Amino acid sequence: MKKADGTAAMAAIFDELAAGYDCAALRFFPFAADAMADEADLKPGLRVLDLATGTGAVATAVAQRIRPTGRVIGIDVSPAMLDRAWANVRRMALHNVDLHEMDAMAPGFRAQWFDRVLCGFGLFFLPDPPAALRAWARLLKPEGLLTLSVFARGAFEPFLGLLRSALAAEGGTLGDWTPPWAVTEDSTVVAEWLQAAGFEPPRVRQRDFGYHLDRPEDWWALLWNSFFRRLLESLPPDRREDFRQRHLAQVAQRLRAGDSALAVPVTFLTAVRAA
Ligand SMILES: C[S@@+](CC[C@H](N)C(=O)[O-])C[C@H]1O[C@@H](n2cnc3c(N)ncnc32)[C@H](O)[C@@H]1O
Repeated sequence: MKKADGTAAMAAIFDELAAGYDCAALRFFPFAADAMADEADLKPGLRVLDLATGTGAVATAVAQRIRPTGRVIGIDVSPAMLDRAWANVRRMALHNVDLHEMDAMAPGFRAQWFDRVLCGFGLFFLPDPPAALRAWARLLKPEGLLTLSVFARGAFEPFLGLLRSALAAEGGTLGDWTPPWAVTEDSTVVAEWLQAAGFEPPRVRQRDFGYHLDRPEDWWALLWNSFFRRLLESLPPDRREDFRQRHLAQVAQRLRAGDSALAVPVTFLTAVRAA
């Protein structure tokens, strides 16, 4: 089936990012995935769907907990991310994972098929998150659980603030850039969407998966290997290297002052599908 324009564009973005996605600078993804699997109250034998599976961080964490009789299906729109996910599944010798190229806005599964549905850092990339949640509620058995992870307010600070000022100094509107995850930063908004979609009020937990930057290049690796690359690519190509050097000089100054902690606060929301 042909992908909608926005979905095809999203797939192309992540196809480009796939090769670097499992890098050390993005280690908060697998750590958060492991914590997310704990939130989802998993046990062997369950049938689980992992939406926007990416390189399979959540799917593999789930597979380990529901083996040998449970199965997890991971879906994503990016074939290159799915290739990386397969490589991770094989590396971990997991035999209970299926992966499919599929749009999380319209997952093609039978109603009430899954015991658990999870979506790690994917909801905010979708064109209509409340509609997606309605579609996901349909897939869950009554009393089934949906678990979401989203970035909380303050994610990537204080270095994101430095990046914004550096971009603002370039002129134009780049300094006003809002990340896609801003729409889900306020967990009360997500909780309202969940209830409107047919879920009970969610349990909400916040944890931080931040770390200390050893070198300014760690910050650049985070930017370049994640969705931030889109933002950097909107700089004219002949100004990028100069921008990188000036921005990293500011980051280096912070690190020398002993200010090296990167915040990655994450909110987990877990909701029961109303019977
Ligand atoms: C930040 S990654 C999250 C990966 C993984 N869930 C994790 O927690 O590490 C976001 C993923 O969402 C996928 N994605 C974006 N839009 C999608 C859509 N409409 N349907 C399915 N996947 C989508 C991207 O291809 C990307 O792999």
